[in-house]
Amino acid sequence: MQKVAVIGAGQMGSGIAQTVAQNGMQVLLADVDLAVAEKARAGIDKALGKLVGRGKIDIAEAEAALARITAIAGYEPMAEADLIIEAATEREAVKKSIFEAAGKVLSQGAIMASNTSSIPITRMANFSPDPARFIGLHFFNPVPVMGLIEVIPGLATAQETTDRVVAFAEGLGKEVVLSQDEPGFVVNRILLPMINEAIFVLGQSTANIEDIDKGCRLGLNHPMGPLQLADFVGLDTCFEIIKVLYDTTGDSKYRPAPLLVKYVEAGWLGRKTGRGFYDYSGEVPVPTR
Ligand code: CAA
Ligand code: NAD
Repeated sequence: MQKVAVIGAGQMGSGIAQTVAQNGMQVLLADVDLAVAEKARAGIDKALGKLVGRGKIDIAEAEAALARITAIAGYEPMAEADLIIEAATEREAVKKSIFEAAGKVLSQGAIMASNTSSIPITRMANFSPDPARFIGLHFFNPVPVMGLIEVIPGLATAQETTDRVVAFAEGLGKEVVLSQDEPGFVVNRILLPMINEAIFVLGQSTANIEDIDKGCRLGLNHPMGPLQLADFVGLDTCFEIIKVLYDTTGDSKYRPAPLLVKYVEAGWLGRKTGRGFYDYSGEVPVPTR
């Protein structure tokens, strides 16, 4: 791959763009409009600056990586991409409109991938012009740090597409886990019920936010407690994932915790909105319950 387009420049799209650019490839970064994509590029500049400050990379490397990232508006420039990675909001309707629009410019031989956390790949492949060249490419947050990428071929994905995407993922220095196209794939099938259960535990006042998170940090050696992690992922994204698990399996064990639904309805989506289970307005996050 020489040129990669990333659609959706939120926390995941920004992390993907940064990682791909740091690995020597050109990146086209798009969002709902140019201003959002440009703001994301400025955020990547800041993240690279932090790495320079910590002595992880030198200034020349940071500048070269940033120079490889172009913020774009519209889909036309993506005609030059070898790989288009969709990393927009976790809603099937949003992704459908993106695949249909990007599909019009997808070049012969190029691959279209989704960073979805949960939406079935086989179903979304039908929104693209060639399901044989469509695949799930699931990064983990924060992308520059996390060592894993899940690769999820749909029913119609060609073996060549899987091979090329696995080589791309390994070229980023990540390890690959191949998953069948089953609800939640491998990791989120396990993670989201845990996060959802932690929210039930909070909703039933078994313990407060601080102690639920402390319990998992110290009792399970997790780097973050489940409520802090839910805020980090985004409560809207957590809700969409658990809803997909519930809807696609019909299994009541995946029903969303009522408190999660309330927080999403309140617009308290976690770190990205400044409030979730924690309040992020000060120096350190403060539990809200
Ligand atoms: N770019 C590059 N490096 C970064 C970075 C970034 N944006 N953010 C952090 N880092 C690096 C730091 O430089 C630091 O490196 P060194 O240890 O080599 O110095 C390292 O990451 C740790 O960073 P910090 O010291 O700032 O913070 P921390 O020790 O508290 O770790 C964390 C932060 C890595 C996020 C850690 O808390 C953690 O692993 N949390 C759990 C993350 C997790 O579970 N992610 C998966 C979410 S689920 C998902 O992604 C799937 C889905 O579909 C929802
Ligand atoms: P986010 O809310 O930070 O960013 C989503 C971005 O998509 C926003 O910038 C939004 O403006 C943009 N967007 C919405 N509609 C668009 C459109 N029509 N065209 C272009 N851009 C559009 O969300 P995120 O956390 O970056 O998640 C993005 C995707 O990655 C989701 O599918 C999510 O499930 C998946 N994912 C998230 C995580 C995580 O921990 N947050 C981890 C792995 C995968």
